[in-house]
Amino acid sequence: MRVLGIETSCDETGIAIYESEAGLLANRLYSQAAMHSEFGGVVPELASRDHVRKILPLIKMVLSDSDLQLSDLGGIAYTSGPGLIGALMVGGAIASSIGYALGIPVLGIHHMEGHLLAPMLEKTRPEFPFVALLVSGGHTQLVKVNGLGEYSLLGESLDDAAGEAFDKTAKMLELDYPGGPILAKFAADGNFRRFNFPRPMTDRPGLDFSFSGIKTFSRNLIDRHREEHGLLDQETRADICAGFQEAVVDTLVIKCLRAIEYTSLQTLVIAGGVAANTRLRQKLEDALKSKQANVFYARQEFCTDNGAMIAYAGCQRMLAGERDALAVKAFPRWPLDKLTPPLGRN
Ligand code: KG4
Ligand code: ZN
Repeated sequence: MRVLGIETSCDETGIAIYESEAGLLANRLYSQAAMHSEFGGVVPELASRDHVRKILPLIKMVLSDSDLQLSDLGGIAYTSGPGLIGALMVGGAIASSIGYALGIPVLGIHHMEGHLLAPMLEKTRPEFPFVALLVSGGHTQLVKVNGLGEYSLLGESLDDAAGEAFDKTAKMLELDYPGGPILAKFAADGNFRRFNFPRPMTDRPGLDFSFSGIKTFSRNLIDRHREEHGLLDQETRADICAGFQEAVVDTLVIKCLRAIEYTSLQTLVIAGGVAANTRLRQKLEDALKSKQANVFYARQEFCTDNGAMIAYAGCQRMLAGERDALAVKAFPRWPLDKLTPPLGRN
């Protein structure tokens, strides 16, 4: 089965074609980051309008990349939530219109399920069951994954998501937008031992997270330095980035180890934008070795938002017979553990 995947939940238009036998046939991404950067964050109305401009040219590109025509598609999957309502509506409306015109199945996909399954796009894939750490701009969750659509929440952030904390701290440091990956680059040159950042909620039992304390620590540190020394020097900025990143990574690693012990599972999957962080990958690999457990993740471009993960998730569900009725689905808020295994043909 050949599925067109459409991702438009936030500020990236991601389009891809996945085939059940051959794998990923084409993948294109247009990032609106430059457009939103002058506002320091995503402007929802601008995001929707830009998806409208970019979506059809990108669909034409993936068809041409894979030497296919619309009539060669067997189904269309689009992100139906969670995300920005206008942005979701663009993807949903295009997917439904093309699907209706071609008479092929259309399916709305949960964005975080897409992330969670993205490591399946790689050669070495995890096998069910596993523990997944989902770390993006909007979510930080530990999930027990028994199979496609069988997700139970083990723990989550009580305040900011890990990616959100990266972005907000980057903004305080006046780094360019989007801040997370830029902060991570600065961190590589910094000394993470210089400032003693907290590791919130690691000294009590449980699998929930909190990142607002680390963020507030950064705020106070930056304000104090500016008061005492005027502008932040390069070295101090890099040291704050490194200290912040190390604290977030340590907190995530401690909870992942706990989740592995708690579930007695030996496979951990990390997914979502923050899973692109090389320090997180490295520290998790080291920590899990001692537990005879393995960590799986997608290549960096499939950790952040993309169409390939939506095409893959859609293909798996459609192969199991799931189809949506003719309607555009858009759910700005949609808990992952409300998903069900594929619903067979009805
Ligand atoms: O999954 P994603 O592309 O979009 C959402 O679904 O939110 O994740 C974006 C988040 C942003 O907060 C971004 O700063 C963060 O992932 N991110 C990173 C890195 N690359 C992206 N955070 C830390 N280190 C990175 N290398
Ligand atoms: Zn995402």
